[in-house]
Amino acid sequence: MERDRLIPDDFVVLGVARTEMNNSAFRELVREEINKTFPGEFDNAVWTRMSGRLFYTHVDYEEKASFRKLKRHLSSLEKKHRTLGNRILYLAVPPEVYEPIISNIGAAGLSEEGAGYTHIVIEKPFGRDLESAGKLNAVLSTAFSEKQIYRMDHYLAKETVQNVLMFRFANSIFEPLWNRRYIDHVQITVAETLGVGHRAGYYEKSGVLRDMFQNHIFQLLALTAMEPPSVFEAERVRDEKMKVFRSIRPFALDRLEDLVVIGQYGEGRVDNEKVPGYRAEQGVAPDSVTPTFAAMKVFIDNWRWNNVPFYLRSGKRLLKRKAEISVHFKRVPHLMFAGTLSDAIEPNTVVMRLQPDEGISLCFQAKAPGTRICLDPVLMDFSYQKVFSLNDYERVLLDCMQGDQMLFVRGDGVEEAWSLLSPVIEKLEAATYSKNLADYKAGSAGPSSADKLLRKDGRSWRPL
Ligand code: BG6
Repeated sequence: MERDRLIPDDFVVLGVARTEMNNSAFRELVREEINKTFPGEFDNAVWTRMSGRLFYTHVDYEEKASFRKLKRHLSSLEKKHRTLGNRILYLAVPPEVYEPIISNIGAAGLSEEGAGYTHIVIEKPFGRDLESAGKLNAVLSTAFSEKQIYRMDHYLAKETVQNVLMFRFANSIFEPLWNRRYIDHVQITVAETLGVGHRAGYYEKSGVLRDMFQNHIFQLLALTAMEPPSVFEAERVRDEKMKVFRSIRPFALDRLEDLVVIGQYGEGRVDNEKVPGYRAEQGVAPDSVTPTFAAMKVFIDNWRWNNVPFYLRSGKRLLKRKAEISVHFKRVPHLMFAGTLSDAIEPNTVVMRLQPDEGISLCFQAKAPGTRICLDPVLMDFSYQKVFSLNDYERVLLDCMQGDQMLFVRGDGVEEAWSLLSPVIEKLEAATYSKNLADYKAGSAGPSSADKLLRKDGRSWRPL
């Protein structure tokens, strides 16, 4: 961002953590990270411009006095660098320490706004269930107003995810079809090839439903299903997403197995490399029942979507890295070709490819050239084919600096998503239920029970 001159000159970063470190050690740490992130692109001139504006101080998260000292430190930096008092407090900390930090920020008056703004950024996980999310919202509201709170979901900042709304509402040809009359079902897939990596400490307590569904996948669902907002503005867009969450049919807990499938990866091969199973990963309990894959069927009980299933799936160590939303239209109502065609006509599909190979495709039928009546599915394809200039985190950071909350999640939305998923997760985590955890081979398309979930409805997943 500094290289692209997206950051103002009157700008400083103060790193704050429990570790004791001086400014130069902190700058060295940042330099190493930049080198790692942009190998071969390290620009000395940019670094010189940037490094003099990096500072560090240590705090004790539990100590009020420590935060008062932090406030004085910050004020003097702000004065010296003439930042006009605009301030972003960015919490990239373990969730256990959110509460003391936010309370102490409030007690020290660090959340107050003077001539400039004060925004607070909270990264996920935002709570681990409805109760903890509610508590975190309550703690935040003791020191901050909703306007100051930026709950980050980096999926919302992906160019292709933002494009879902543009595609739907800036084209008149799709929106009239975007409902139960023409759509048979919708699939949302976020497949990863990566395993748990070095994040077992966090992931063991989280699992795929908390890690991917409550936030990213539900956000994708909301963008796909929401009504057009009256204006394209943060509050109105977030109102519409909220209405979708409120309309999602609660999961029937007594027949959860008809609606939700979970799995955990075993050993296998990914990208031609042998990889260990989840339980053999560093930091994972050898008898862990943490799900690394889930698939579910969701209904949205409103006029537009009545009885249209939304099938959602996400997992680690799958065959391919692929995130997409596919909208499957109904079959043609009258099979006038039935006498002349041997195969059934494939229904139309619109696929929004979120990553990689970002783009949109529309699959429709055309006559195959020749004397016989023969149809072929053909693809109309739009591909971005260019490197996006801003990555997800850069985008949300800039929006936070500019005070645009559109791509951030509102407090009520977080709680609504948790209220749908918390009972499901609790049920799945109950000891009696973990027997339903299906294994799948690393490098596969997930457990076979996920295929069954659709097969019993006479449908199938799009291949990964
Ligand atoms: C994070 C999850 O929020 O999103 C990770 O914690 C996951 O487990 C990641 O790997 C996926 O993000 P992306 O941008 O790589 O698709």
